[in-house]
Amino acid sequence: MSAILPPATRVVSGMRSTGRLHLGHYHGVLKNWVRLQHEYDCLFFVADWHALTTHYEDPAIIAPSVREMAVDWIAAGVDPRSATLFVQSDVPQHAELHLLLSMITPLAWLERVPTYKDQQAQLRERDLATYGFLGYPLLQTADVLAYRAALVPVGEDQVPHIELAREIARRFNHLYGREPGFVERAEEALRKMGRRPARAYKELRDAYLEQGDSQALETARALIERQPNMVLGDKERLLGYLEGHGRLILSEPQTLLTPQSRMPGLDGQKMSKSYGNVISLRESPDEVTRKIRTMPTDPSRKRRTDPGEPTHCPVWPFHEIYSSEETKAWVQEGCRTAGIGCLECKQPVIDAVNAELAPMRARAQEWESDAGLVRNILTDGARRAREIAEETLVDVRRAMNLRWE
Ligand code: TRP
Ligand code: SF4
Repeated sequence: MSAILPPATRVVSGMRSTGRLHLGHYHGVLKNWVRLQHEYDCLFFVADWHALTTHYEDPAIIAPSVREMAVDWIAAGVDPRSATLFVQSDVPQHAELHLLLSMITPLAWLERVPTYKDQQAQLRERDLATYGFLGYPLLQTADVLAYRAALVPVGEDQVPHIELAREIARRFNHLYGREPGFVERAEEALRKMGRRPARAYKELRDAYLEQGDSQALETARALIERQPNMVLGDKERLLGYLEGHGRLILSEPQTLLTPQSRMPGLDGQKMSKSYGNVISLRESPDEVTRKIRTMPTDPSRKRRTDPGEPTHCPVWPFHEIYSSEETKAWVQEGCRTAGIGCLECKQPVIDAVNAELAPMRARAQEWESDAGLVRNILTDGARRAREIAEETLVDVRRAMNLRWE
């Protein structure tokens, strides 16, 4: 059983900085982040090192998209007062943990991650036979384990990466197990807690370990969780000590599967920059109108008088996302009877997309015009991230005997 019950469940996720964000990102990822930020202690970062693994030959696009990405997140409703936003390369602990974990990672574990071969095949124009690309999921593992994240919101394709993170955490804990001096450190944490709660803890621990009193275990756990000034490391130590085993140094993250909302592109394929079928989050109303008005429709509706079938039309999935039941019924009826024209049918979608983007555009403009503000947010975010990650790294270094002084 895991002894790790973080005080506020921590959520970590990243996004590669390889260009402007679009509606696919919004419906697939950002909407979910916006919801999560109110429920958990969320850390969201721009994965610029991950972007380099595939774009090392043309890194010029990475730097500008870092800031743009942060602005897009905020525009979409990610609130820097709720979530911690930062840039991966501002937190060197990710790289250090990646290096240290690489020592214990069997090559075969990386080679069998499905995205490794898939992506190499898909991005054949890039040379991805690199060390960095093979290590992509391990860097992601470090991103997550550095914060002892409990939950990682990702899409389906990323599930194997989080599985790898769990396997690596388990292997690390197995190899380095209890931290050296665990009992002494647990005792010290107890002393810091104060006499009365420490005595209560000891009595409850004895009751559990000697008589198997599970109620005592629960009470003791609650007691630790309530300690106001205790650092996470000490909490985990005391939770582990309670059950008679050591403190697990790294915790196993769980996937928080993003509800599948497949945002269709303008041509019916998945919305993706590489297909050139996107509506970006900062698209102007005129551009939105133009792009939707020129979308292809059911090919059987050559003339206005030809009846059509919504399920054969790339516009229909947009109605499914944006339209009321009433509008959808109007589309189905009107399309099948040639009662409405395609431009007429598209208008409610145009209006809905523009209504969704209007507050984002406004927020983006506001933040765009104040470069210092975004920089401050990312700088503050990185400072907090480094503090948390450094706590983990202290334990990891110690566990791996990297203290020679
Ligand atoms: N690999 C993720 C993607 O392509 C991005 C990512 C990098 C990430 N590090 C992460 C996601 C850590 C979650 C947690 O979408
Ligand atoms: Fe598509 Fe609407 Fe035209 Fe039917 S009426 S083909 S659903 S755009």
